[in-house]
Amino acid sequence: MQKLAITGGPVLSGEITASGAKNAALPILAACLLVAEPVTLTNVPHLADISTMLSLLTSMGMRVTLDDKNALHLDASDIHHYLAPYDLVKTMRASIVVLGPLLTRFHEAFVSLPGGCAIGARPVNIHIDGLIAMGASIHIENGYIHAKAPNGLKGAVLSPELVSVTGTENLMMAAVLASGTTVINNAACEPEVQDLAHFLNALGAKISGIGTSRLVIDGVKALHGGSHHVIGDRIEAGTYLVAAAATGGHIRINAINPGTMEAVILKLQESGAKLELGTDFIELNMAKKRPKAVNLRTAPHPAFPTDMQAQFMALNCIATGNSTMIETIFENRFMHALELQRMGASIRLDGHTAHCEGIEQLTGVHVMATDLRASASLVIAGLIATGQTIIERIYHIDRGYERIEEKLSKLGATIARIN
Ligand code: UD1
Repeated sequence: MQKLAITGGPVLSGEITASGAKNAALPILAACLLVAEPVTLTNVPHLADISTMLSLLTSMGMRVTLDDKNALHLDASDIHHYLAPYDLVKTMRASIVVLGPLLTRFHEAFVSLPGGCAIGARPVNIHIDGLIAMGASIHIENGYIHAKAPNGLKGAVLSPELVSVTGTENLMMAAVLASGTTVINNAACEPEVQDLAHFLNALGAKISGIGTSRLVIDGVKALHGGSHHVIGDRIEAGTYLVAAAATGGHIRINAINPGTMEAVILKLQESGAKLELGTDFIELNMAKKRPKAVNLRTAPHPAFPTDMQAQFMALNCIATGNSTMIETIFENRFMHALELQRMGASIRLDGHTAHCEGIEQLTGVHVMATDLRASASLVIAGLIATGQTIIERIYHIDRGYERIEEKLSKLGATIARIN
């Protein structure tokens, strides 16, 4: 199995380009199931999770080609299987976003229940209850969600108790081809949900309230073909910015809209970094200083994202001062803390709260990646540790970071992929 070897020390500097957002591209790819005409997508990142989604879509009959300009062409005019098998869903929970599109266009879907997850229970009741409210009949059979709506879905007022990103996406996609109007209250307003809504509207959907917690969707009979450029990945960009801040560095990230990551930018400023924000770039300068510790509390957008908690914990480990990090979205999202402790970090866990006392330096050791963002935090820890850090199980990183060792090397890091 491949590993990452990182020798800590270098101060990151230079310029890189953000990849397309994984969490926008995944539901947008699934949304291509809604339309019988060709769709072209640009800025889709090359990631393991994207390959999984493409395997799933092609297994249903979607025709997919990648042209020499890196644009993806998708054609769902001949979908003949409405099935998302366990083998694919277990490797990527986000596969659940095919449920809404399949059910609303073909009136039937078999999607494996995702099962457990390293960071929390992650049930899918919001997806299922919303579809039932829209007239679907749903049975759980042999570990699969079997959903049927022989006469199509009907618009409804949905008010899920919790804000769910993929739940909002699934229900929004289902509502696009439902009869009548659907209202989704307590909707997620993450930039990736907004990007999906803009894509759907470009294909003829009628979604309003985009970017707010109340989406109104007037159902249409059919969507038409079109094209879309996926937004830049705010979590990937945020990860490199935190890495630069932790090393005292000075970097610029292109192809990212700072408006998608205001809460993260504020925390970076609080840590002592100077930031310059353009319409499509972010430049961070920590001027070789040690960062100041920052407190944070995760919550749905526009508050601080849970997907950036682990990276900031790595920064807090070597910051001046003490910090408190509260995780409110997932119940078990501190696995990286245990690995960081093995590198010498002073972290105390108390339920959903992590208390960290900043120390001068971490020590490079062998560590194990446990989930996608936890692995990003270990990479940052490796960059600021003395000696060599070896990170195992890096398939987690490859799910969400495109060519991470190449991008970090470009910024001056000493990092290599080894077997
Ligand atoms: C998405 C993101 C993930 C991010 C998360 C929170 C994608 C592909 N993944 O995951 O990177 O960490 O949002 O920002 O976009 N919940 C329920 N019932 C449901 C659905 C969710 O109780 O039916 C709970 C979850 O267990 C969790 C919370 O709601 O505690 C938020 O989860 P959700 O927003 O659904 O996360 P995902 O969409 O799976």
